[in-house]
Amino acid sequence: MHPNVTEIDHPLMKHKLTILRNAETTTDNFRRVVREIAAMMAYEVTRDLATEMVPITTPVADCEAPVISGKKLCLIAIMRAGNGMIDGMVELLPGARVGHIGLYRDPETLEAVEYYYKVPSDIDERQVIVVDPMLATGNSASAALSRLKEDGVSSIKFVCLLAAPEGLETMAREHPDVPILTASIDSHLNEHGYIVPGLGDAGDRLFGTR
Ligand code: URA
Repeated sequence: MHPNVTEIDHPLMKHKLTILRNAETTTDNFRRVVREIAAMMAYEVTRDLATEMVPITTPVADCEAPVISGKKLCLIAIMRAGNGMIDGMVELLPGARVGHIGLYRDPETLEAVEYYYKVPSDIDERQVIVVDPMLATGNSASAALSRLKEDGVSSIKFVCLLAAPEGLETMAREHPDVPILTASIDSHLNEHGYIVPGLGDAGDRLFGTR
């Protein structure tokens, strides 16, 4: 499906995901749980960050201790649902910059068209983590990754709550070099483009719209 996809296997994650899937979950609970899951995903997606030893003094002794080194981080939210995951991730990664990409689907060509693009000026030097809760067809995620690559970004990871096999196939075809971290690989897309069983429209559920 994709050469580098990781589905998080953790009881806490599965439990929280069930809360999101439940149609009866209220907007405030949905938001809170997305934030909690996003923080857990920030922990998981940074598992392989480089560290270096620095000298420090504890209250007891001098020692060498590890700190994060290497490329600085930038989180990129694909608007609008990606915004809902940023707060939780930033709680764990307070130094990360945050960029935004807005895309819509042209109804005639069905191509993803960019309407907003705001990223740090040194984006090409950063480890970029692109965030979108739902990897459905994969078209907007793929367009966002292509845009970032055009800007010279060479280290990218993609984080989503739910992935459909169709979206993973798109990513495998167009961005096999980008590792994907997801909380669940669901069954399929329905005729309306929703992930099944899914959780509905992530943006609507986060922002209380319809
Ligand atoms: N986007 C969503 O918000 N939900 C889906 O199921 C598919 C795409």
